[in-house]
Amino acid sequence: MTKTLLTLPGDGIGPEVIEQVNRVIDALKSRHGLELSVETALFGGACIDAAGEPIQASTIKRAKEVEAVLMGAVGGPKWAGVAREIRPEAGLLNLRKEMDVFANLRPALCFEALADASSLKKPFVEGLDIMFVRELCGGVYFGKPKGVDTLADGTKIGYDNAVYTTAEIERVAHVAFKLARKRGNKVASLEKSNVMDSGLLWREVVTEVHAKDYKDVVLEHVLADNAAMQLVRDPKQFDVLLTDNLFGDILSDLAAALTGSIGLLPSAALGADGMAGLYEPIHGSAPDIAGKGLANPIAAILSLEMALRYSLDASEIADKLFAAVKAALEKGARTKDLGGELSTTQMGDAIIAEL
Ligand code: NAD
Ligand code: IPM
Ligand code: MN
Repeated sequence: MTKTLLTLPGDGIGPEVIEQVNRVIDALKSRHGLELSVETALFGGACIDAAGEPIQASTIKRAKEVEAVLMGAVGGPKWAGVAREIRPEAGLLNLRKEMDVFANLRPALCFEALADASSLKKPFVEGLDIMFVRELCGGVYFGKPKGVDTLADGTKIGYDNAVYTTAEIERVAHVAFKLARKRGNKVASLEKSNVMDSGLLWREVVTEVHAKDYKDVVLEHVLADNAAMQLVRDPKQFDVLLTDNLFGDILSDLAAALTGSIGLLPSAALGADGMAGLYEPIHGSAPDIAGKGLANPIAAILSLEMALRYSLDASEIADKLFAAVKAALEKGARTKDLGGELSTTQMGDAIIAEL
C-alpha cells in the first residue's frame, strides 16, 4: 500500500525548504523507486490569513490518518499581534498534542566535512553524534493554569505551569533507553530537580524506569544548567540526552550551533507505535532571510530522511538520501549559513545530483 506524506510548508523559509524536499521526493521516485503519495495543507500564519486559524480541523484529522507529516516552519512578525490562542505557534502545539507525538528525536550530528564550520574548535566536534529525546506534549508548554491576568491594582500577571505526570515521564524515558541501546548505550537525563518539583519527579521516575527495565544502559542525571555548560565544554561525552519540553527546545538549538548551523538539524516527533509521526526541522521561519533564497534546506531534507526511516518503511532509501547529503557537503556544497555561496535551490540541486 502506498503511504502518504502530508506536507505543511507554513511560513517564512518554510515553503522554501519544503520546495526542495518536494524536488528530492521526485528524484527519489524516479531514481530509487520510492512510492509515496504527497498531500499538502496550509499551516501557521498562512492558514491564519486564509482561514482565520493556524490549523484547520480537517488538517488535524488528515494528519492523524496519514503515515507521516512533514512541516517547514511557522510564525513571523506579521502575526505577532494575533490573539494568543490562534498564533501560528499555538497551531503547532495543537498539532503535536492532537497527534500525541510525545517523543521528539533531535539528532545533532557533525558531518566530517563541516567540522570546521562549528562554533567550537574541530577536536571538540569532530565525530559528534548525540541525540536529544525531548518530551513534546507536556511540561510548561501545556501545563494549566496558564495565562495573563490583570490584578485588582491593574498590574498584569503572566504565568505558565511546569507539569509532568508519572505516565508522561515514563513513556518518553522508555523511548530514550531503547534508543540508547541502538547507539552508545548511555542516557543523560536533564532536569532542575534542585529547584523544580516537576524536575524532582522527573529524576525519580527516570531512575525507576531505568532500574526496572534498562540496567544495561548507563544512566546519569545532569542538572540542565550544568548540561548546557557541558554541551559547549565537551559535547562528545554525551550519547542520548533525555529532556523535558523546554530544556530540550533550548539545548537542541545550542547543539545545532555545534554542528555548524541550525539549518542542518532535523527532528522526528513520534507517538505510540503505528501512529503518524511529525517531522520538523528544528529551526523556525527565519524572517531575517525569508524570501531571499538563503535558507539551508538540509534540516528539512534530513527530516524527510527521518520520515522515510521511522514512518514510511523506506530505510534503504533513507540511507541513500543521507549519503547524498553527506556527499554534497564533502564536495563543498555550502549555503551562506555554512560560509558558502549556494542558494536554497542550488543546495537542493547539489543533493539531487548525488542521488
Ligand atoms: P529561527 O530558527 O527562525 O532563526 C534563528 C536564526 O537562524 C536566524 O538568524 C535565521 O536566519 C537562522 N536560520 C534558521 N533556519 C535557517 C536555515 N534553514 N538556513 C539558514 N539560516 C537559518 O528562530 P527565530 O528567529 O527565533 O524565530 C522566528 C520565528 O520562527 C518565530 O515566530 C518562532 O516562533 C518561529 N519558530 C518556529 C519553529 C517551527 O515552526 N518549528 C521553530 C522555531 C521557531
Ligand atoms: C521548536 C520551536 C517550537 C517549540 C515553537 C515554534 C512552538 O521552537 O520546535 O523548536 O518551542 O517547540
Ligand atoms: Mn525551538
